[in-house]
Amino acid sequence: MQNSSNATTLPMDAADGMVNEDRRGFVKKLGVTALALGVVGAVVECGRFLKPNVLYEPSRVFKVGEVNQFPFGSRTVIEGKAVEIVREKDGVYAISLVCTHLGCLLKPVLNDQEIGYSCPCHGSNFSPKGDVLGGPAPRALPWYDVYMDNTGNLVVDASKENQKRTKLVV
Ligand code: FES
Repeated sequence: MQNSSNATTLPMDAADGMVNEDRRGFVKKLGVTALALGVVGAVVECGRFLKPNVLYEPSRVFKVGEVNQFPFGSRTVIEGKAVEIVREKDGVYAISLVCTHLGCLLKPVLNDQEIGYSCPCHGSNFSPKGDVLGGPAPRALPWYDVYMDNTGNLVVDASKENQKRTKLVV
């Protein structure tokens, strides 16, 4: 009987050699690729290391508006600043709305003469002047420096605590 197939058959040793060459080439390419990826990763990380990892925060000194925007007896929360401007007959002050326990944002308590601020996280309460009335808060709410600039706007400097709790007379 005659073999009708046209396929050429290689001797067994030659076929094994080709398979080994293919496998060797593949492993070599894999190694080169892994090495290249490692070098690229190291270069990228070195580049990130050289660039300072800085977060830029907004200024803690900010205008809140003209004084006549704050009528006598008003308490005005400044949106996005965690500060409330309180205007009384004898002056204006700015009080922090950040709880001194773990930093939650306080909610002003409206229509209550005793509790000025309440913390939604763990229940601390503060007087309208910021003194601790109850809860785990360790200290009173800080007052910030307030001054009037030469255009008549009130400016809060939240980087400076008003230790003596003095009001700006306007
Ligand atoms: S964060 Fe306000 S009581 Fe805990």
